[in-house]
Amino acid sequence: MSDVKLYSGETLPLEMHKVRIVQKLNLIPIEQRYAAITAAGNNTFLLKNRDVFLDMLTDSGVNAMSDQQQAAMMIADDSYAGSETFYRLEAKIEELFGMPYFLPAHQGRACESIIAQVFVRPETIVPTNYHFTTTKAHITLNGGTVEEIFCDDALEVTSDKPFKGDIDLAKLQTLIERHGAGKIAFLRIEAGTNLIGGQPVSLANMRAVSEVCRAHDILFVLDASLLADNLYFNKTREAACRDMDLRRITREIAGLCDLIYFSARKLGCARGGGICMHREDLYKQIRDKIVLYEGFLTYGGMSVREIEAIRVGLDETMDMDMISQGPQFIRFMVEEMAARGIPAITPPGGLGAHIDARAFLSHLSQAEYPAGALAAALYLVSGVRGMERGTLSEQRHPDGSERFADMELLRLALPRRVFTMSQVKYAVDRIAWLYEHRTLVGGLRFTEEPSVLRFFFGRLTPTSAWQEALIERFRVDLGDSL
Ligand SMILES: Cc1ncc(COP(=O)(O)O)c(C=O)c1O
Repeated sequence: MSDVKLYSGETLPLEMHKVRIVQKLNLIPIEQRYAAITAAGNNTFLLKNRDVFLDMLTDSGVNAMSDQQQAAMMIADDSYAGSETFYRLEAKIEELFGMPYFLPAHQGRACESIIAQVFVRPETIVPTNYHFTTTKAHITLNGGTVEEIFCDDALEVTSDKPFKGDIDLAKLQTLIERHGAGKIAFLRIEAGTNLIGGQPVSLANMRAVSEVCRAHDILFVLDASLLADNLYFNKTREAACRDMDLRRITREIAGLCDLIYFSARKLGCARGGGICMHREDLYKQIRDKIVLYEGFLTYGGMSVREIEAIRVGLDETMDMDMISQGPQFIRFMVEEMAARGIPAITPPGGLGAHIDARAFLSHLSQAEYPAGALAAALYLVSGVRGMERGTLSEQRHPDGSERFADMELLRLALPRRVFTMSQVKYAVDRIAWLYEHRTLVGGLRFTEEPSVLRFFFGRLTPTSAWQEALIERFRVDLGDSL
């Protein structure tokens, strides 16, 4: 994509694919969107897809599949035990990661649950570059604690640091000295850190962390769900990777880890997951749990059709044309927003564009859930569904007090190969309108608050009649536009 030079001098993320299957979309009027978001308890997770225009909630399970993936699904070998389809995926995993042991699971959090059950004991610690919601929930459910050891500038909203997902090695050393390596259940690196703006981890950092882990006999676990984006940034931002092809970078990364798990709803553009290992002893420790909770060892809760699609999807992840589409669209969106003064995370990362809700709605306190309010407001004025990644996505402290998130983000995911440039421009236009009228946006408060992963199905209400005020202004400025 980046090799194409336009005569106009403009930089345009040019799609290296064509669209061959389409899905019709609905854009309902703002008054109906108001009814929909109210019925959803102002939680974008609870909206019905029929009421959503551009679904930027997540890339999970909604990336576009390729023709090759769809074709492969037709040759899936359907059997409970010993499916050829499974052995084809196992061989692909060994080819790409150099890991001969593979256990299938139905999605990423299933891998997390099983890894936590096997390795986390009460009062053990899991150091990580940054937690993910479901990862942390499973670690704490098993009595462990997550310790984030990101570099000090990882949470700076605007930055030119290329690898904000790196682990701070000095913090890792201090942690080991303070608690002893025996207290560490495993060290976890998340490629393309989801909750801090899709920021990548450098190969150099993974190498240094791996050395420390080996010296102290600490298990090194990689969450590779967002590896595709991470590989793109290794290749384009890390001098040492510039002359390596993607297969080589992947092999190098995998060679540093003891265990890799992934959500194939993200990595591989299908639906499923799995755990990959070099060592047979680890495989034997984990395998019983797969059979208990997921399914037999040759399907792990997945449809064989999805397993075929994952195999092809993983192979296609080794193609720069494929993995660059997401990050390049995201960069385009972030730059378009920056040109309009809209605060977004920089450098642009993977997964989606991330708006800094704290700066966008600087008149709101964190107790009013600014990122959640911004998600509800954006849906109202555009039909675009984003996801809150801030305090709502945290769990309260044991004493019931609020745990304020490090960052208040509205994530606008760009599932790979799904949206067109004009749809991205529409989203930016409505965000710009909302930014102009940001002082109209008020906060939210809970009416129903689940105790676990409350962001998924909690219900909230506006703290004032701010949504009616937004609708009124929308009609003044945009007339009868949808
Ligand atoms: C980094 C990371 N790890 C794990 C998961 C969990 O995967 P799944 O949604 O397949 O359970 C996700 C999902 O978004 C993720 O982004």
